[in-house]
Amino acid sequence: MCKNITEFTNLQNFLDHGWSGIIRGVADAKSPARHPTLATVSETNAPEIRTVVLRKANQKNSTIQIHTDKTSKKVRDLSINSNGALHIWLPKSRLQIRLNIIAKIQTGSDVKDLWDRVPERSRISYGTVPAPGTPIETPLAYQQPSNSERFAVLKCQVIKIELLHLGLHHIRAQFSASSDWKGTWLAP
Ligand SMILES: Cc1cc2nc3c(=O)[nH]c(=O)nc-3n(C[C@H](O)[C@H](O)[C@H](O)COP(=O)(O)O)c2cc1C
Repeated sequence: MCKNITEFTNLQNFLDHGWSGIIRGVADAKSPARHPTLATVSETNAPEIRTVVLRKANQKNSTIQIHTDKTSKKVRDLSINSNGALHIWLPKSRLQIRLNIIAKIQTGSDVKDLWDRVPERSRISYGTVPAPGTPIETPLAYQQPSNSERFAVLKCQVIKIELLHLGLHHIRAQFSASSDWKGTWLAP
């Protein structure tokens, strides 16, 4: 049995630590939290995962944001099943963060203000012809015009967070919106 000593003295303190790791990913391009893995469920119920850039994170509202192409597979998946998950591993803090989210897909005039702030050089990520994932004859047989109509923002409501810290002791806890983020310790 481990001694009951940990750097995380209470659940709120542990949750705050998790959120500060997530939020660092928005501001710090070098943080591993900048590039979470986003999981969705495909129409055949198969799991699908891919790397994304974390664009916004807000602990108070329990929200995060991701930018993508409206015609991408992840948008198709989330339009059928809005349940998704995100995974982050912060090696320096030795912290694994798992988020369950419900995604709302916003496009067009709803996200015009965000599109206006996308740097010119990044706009080519939204509008690839043919659409992302289409088979092509040769590796460079595509064009990348920027197309604001193809810009989509995944506004994700975080509904559950699970943290695992691999420190002196292994510390694991789960928090959910449905229990007002009070949280519970879990056996690691
Ligand atoms: C470092 C990195 C960052 C990425 N960021 C994004 C992103 O923010 N949004 C996005 O749609 N795709 C991003 N991608 C590409 C996705 O991982 C994926 O290949 C693409 O979106 C197609 O995924 P899908 O077919 O599952 O929709 C990124 C890839 C890498 C390697």
